Amino acid sequence: MSQPDDPPPPWWERGTVYQIYPRSFQDSDGDGVGDLAGIERRLDHVAALGVDAIWLSPIFPSPMADFGYDVADYCGIEPMFGDLAAFDRLLAAAHARGLRLLLDFVPNHSSDQHPWFQASRSSRTDPKRDWYIWRDPAPDGGPPNNWISDFGGSAWDYDAATGQYYLHAFLKQQPDLNWRNPALKAAMLDVMRFWFDRGVDGFRIDVLWHIVKAEGLPDNPANPYWRPGITERDRLIQQHSTDQPEAHAIAAEMRALADSYGERVLIGEIFLPNDRHARWYGTPERPQVHLPFNFQLIENAWDAVSLRRVIADYEASLPPHGWPNWVIGSHDAPRIAARVGAAQARVAAMLLLTLRGTPTLYQGDELGIAQVDIPPERVRDPQELRQPGIGIGRDRSRTPMPWDSSPHAGFSAVEPWLPLNPDWRTRNVAAQETDPRSMLALYRHLLALRRAQPALAIGDFALLDAAPDVLAYERRHGHTVLRVALNLSAEPRPLPFEGEVLLSTLEGGGGGVLRGDEGVVMR
Ligand code: NOJ
Ligand code: MG
Repeated sequence: MSQPDDPPPPWWERGTVYQIYPRSFQDSDGDGVGDLAGIERRLDHVAALGVDAIWLSPIFPSPMADFGYDVADYCGIEPMFGDLAAFDRLLAAAHARGLRLLLDFVPNHSSDQHPWFQASRSSRTDPKRDWYIWRDPAPDGGPPNNWISDFGGSAWDYDAATGQYYLHAFLKQQPDLNWRNPALKAAMLDVMRFWFDRGVDGFRIDVLWHIVKAEGLPDNPANPYWRPGITERDRLIQQHSTDQPEAHAIAAEMRALADSYGERVLIGEIFLPNDRHARWYGTPERPQVHLPFNFQLIENAWDAVSLRRVIADYEASLPPHGWPNWVIGSHDAPRIAARVGAAQARVAAMLLLTLRGTPTLYQGDELGIAQVDIPPERVRDPQELRQPGIGIGRDRSRTPMPWDSSPHAGFSAVEPWLPLNPDWRTRNVAAQETDPRSMLALYRHLLALRRAQPALAIGDFALLDAAPDVLAYERRHGHTVLRVALNLSAEPRPLPFEGEVLLSTLEGGGGGVLRGDEGVVMR
């Protein structure tokens, strides 16, 4: 039971993370693409929101085949974004505002332009050959196994110069690194040291469960549930290409390294069923990541019955030492307001910020940005370009932040790299700042309440019974009990309990009922 005289929890348990997609936050040099100086300029928005940490999607030198998730130098800054001096300034400016800063570590693959891969592909006897995963062709000359890239097509690319295939779980411009090679592993752990030494507060680790493949690289089994129209990756179950025991051991090494620096945090990007997901916490003696990202609010149906089940099953799956976390948006997922609608997006904000566990917010969700249709000629996402028309485009969640109603929404002096949300003239930070009913105002209230109420930040959690379409739970810390009721329908529903309303997602009210699309926190 959480009690006021417990030792204070670490910041990453009590706090809230805000994801910045650097290409789309703020452009400062007029090239239509966001940059580090731009982020620095907009830090007051982040601080005023009331979050505790920023996670930056990759800012390293990159040919941008996958918009930074193809890293050509793990210890540099992409010139389009700035340089190391600009990074140091941003880090200092964040720390000066009490904000922690997390970088995005991409260990599964580098860019094919990384000097390591250039060396590796240069000859079969190059010392770095084994830093990547090379195999002879199958007897028929085809790829060594049946693995499919997450972006569609074979996960293997033939390199005529040396007569072998290399593995790429994503684009062919993103060759997979070989973490079974001790020198590669040492080099990558040195990358983490480089940034920890510079003062970063932790990492979000890209596709962590992918980093080691089963010995012998056996074929993956067919997925009996696959049907045309869903992503090609899902034709197979990624049994041998992901979630290997050796990857857990490496996560434990990363954690030991992080812990040697004091209060640093590791957040692992991991998509797995609950039982296997929970193993990424490791054990109390040999912990792995602090927070294995939990994407279940994104992946499941938006109704009270489904949410109740998702929350209960996830809570039940956690090891005693495992602190939960929740995500409702990212640069990969559809916008929450596009998925559940404007009214329910407010309910979603309350859910995210009142559940037990560290919330991660995605830039722009605090404005309620909804559907952004990208005209075909402006599509940039390689995943969409390779598998068009099945609704997996990611550009729609990567559009620039609308700051005000000036040209290009104050994001840039020129046309941005992706179009703005169509309603940017009214849906922007400046407009919402002066509107007490805005989504931004709601997020600020919710974050302020979470900071003021340890019951919300770190308290115990229990689901409560409620009328159909209502999700209800309590949060308890010492003698403080707060209750949350969320109406997942557009019709009024009975309030499951009485008390003082501390915050509602709607204005006014207080008539003893939960209005349609209303969420309340009560004492
Ligand atoms: C997950 C990242 O979030 C996504 O944007 C990227 O394309 C893949 N990993 C590959 O790095
Ligand atoms: Mg720029």
